[in-house]
Amino acid sequence: MARLRIDSARLNSQIGALACISEAPAPVVTRVLFSEADLKARAFAKTICYELGLSISEDAVGNIFARWRGSNPKLSPVATGSHIDAIPNAGRYDGVVGVLGALEAISALKEAGFQPERSIELIIFTAEEPTRFGIGCLGSRLLSGALSLSRAKALRDPEGRDLNYWRKRLGLGKQDMKSVRLQRNCYSAFVELHIEQGPILEKERIPIGVVEKIAAPSTLRVQLTGVGGHAGAVLMPHRRDALLAGAEIALAVEESACSTGSPDTVATTGVFRIEPGAVNSIPCRAWLEIDLRDTRLHTRDAALKRIESAISKICRRRRIQFKLEKLNVDSPAICAPSLVNTVTSVCGELGLGMKKMVSRAYHDSLFMAQICPTTMIFIPCRGGVSHRPDEYSSPSQIKTGVEVLAHTLAKLSAKGSSSQIAR
Ligand code: GLV
Ligand code: MN
Ligand code: MN
Repeated sequence: MARLRIDSARLNSQIGALACISEAPAPVVTRVLFSEADLKARAFAKTICYELGLSISEDAVGNIFARWRGSNPKLSPVATGSHIDAIPNAGRYDGVVGVLGALEAISALKEAGFQPERSIELIIFTAEEPTRFGIGCLGSRLLSGALSLSRAKALRDPEGRDLNYWRKRLGLGKQDMKSVRLQRNCYSAFVELHIEQGPILEKERIPIGVVEKIAAPSTLRVQLTGVGGHAGAVLMPHRRDALLAGAEIALAVEESACSTGSPDTVATTGVFRIEPGAVNSIPCRAWLEIDLRDTRLHTRDAALKRIESAISKICRRRRIQFKLEKLNVDSPAICAPSLVNTVTSVCGELGLGMKKMVSRAYHDSLFMAQICPTTMIFIPCRGGVSHRPDEYSSPSQIKTGVEVLAHTLAKLSAKGSSSQIAR
């Protein structure tokens, strides 16, 4: 097959247009799950899918599927995709590069006259980010069966609304949640294009990372209940201040990661809310959300145990009641060696440097790997920065990633054994 022509200008103008669909003014991108901005962003992406002639369907939790029908639709399709929701105060590339980039890859393949034998399917996953329900990869967890329906139904957003409320708002209420789960090997492969969200590719001046393993994440939610009171009237020995217990817990979380001896353990208390939130009132309630990860399961689990025991010791000493919820405790994913080899050989044929790497961020690929052969293609991002408005990958870095994705999709969907890329 000839080298494909990626229209970088078109792709970057789409990325720019999608970045303007945000709950906060530019350059901040905020698209909390099922917010008005998230719904508009879904409509924006679907319009491009329609323009490309893809057939679109949506499952009962809003995962979007856009299919380019292959010449043999009986074969299991090749899938690609990512997410377009964004945490508060995010940038424009996380997830988006894997969705709009995949659409550009499909467009380039169509313009080159390529006809896949296997269908190629873009998936736009619901809630990769743990915004509304505090749990990441909600859509892909349900697709893969990693999250049970009963746990999904028990999820509540900060206003106390459940998934069913939102499903009805989206017009998905009539669809059965049971139908979301996909069968094992319903796809022959899943390949996700994403920014690295780390500094390695940029530092080493390597254009492409091929992911072999995805780190094991876990998320805890802690609710602390103390006793409120007048900031002037209640003397210090009598206080049961929920914020102070939370502050000690956040420090214990940091310590639990720093003391594993593994540079790969990372722990973050990313949410800390208090009530009543008045300067002259002792905080009576606090909510913390804690994110803990490692590439090795046993190291992550040991740190998790230390955090749990610190929470109970601190709360006992401070006479605070606590409720601890483990929102997710996931295992690492091992990517399919055959797919890692396919992407590696595409890079070789395109004359591009590549590096095999670990993903320290989690992705929908973590769960897709449970049902089909999976890998990821990483591109560099400036300073390794992500989850910030100044997140940046250059148009040419994105173009290279899309080119690798497009040729990979071509190889995986083509009839018989795939041909070399002519340079
Ligand atoms: C994904 O957004 C992550 O937090 O790794
Ligand atoms: Mn993210
Ligand atoms: Mn992402």
